Amino acid sequence: MTNNQLAQKAVEAKSKALPTYSNFYVGAALLTEDGKVYSGGNIESSSYSLTICAERVAIFKAISEGERKFKAIAVAGNTDDFISPCGACRQVISDLCGDINIIMVNKKNEIKLSKASELLPFAFGDKELK
Ligand code: THU
Repeated sequence: MTNNQLAQKAVEAKSKALPTYSNFYVGAALLTEDGKVYSGGNIESSSYSLTICAERVAIFKAISEGERKFKAIAVAGNTDDFISPCGACRQVISDLCGDINIIMVNKKNEIKLSKASELLPFAFGDKELK
């Protein structure tokens, strides 16, 4: 699967998001090492802090299906600039996916590439807990 194909999966997931309060649609698509894709959209709660980002929906779906090895995550927003994962999602990506490729997608479906370690340098992680 190419970066553009994974970006397209994130764009499709965006349409299934439920951003009831912000109306800010985000989609994510997570690629496993063996080529499967798990997607998610952000889901908001009336108790706002219970909202979950698209990235974490996709990651938790994959983990709960037994997946453990990942290659890349694409994140799409209806934004002029390339949308990048929030701080909380950067931590979860680093913890559960490792140093995967990050594909950021703007509203024109253009992509920008990064890495988890570039978005969260000096990451806290399980090495600190041993
Ligand atoms: N959001 C995401 O889904 N992913 C991000 O990386 C940034 C923020 C969502 C959370 C909330 O539903 C909305 O965007 C506005 O913050």
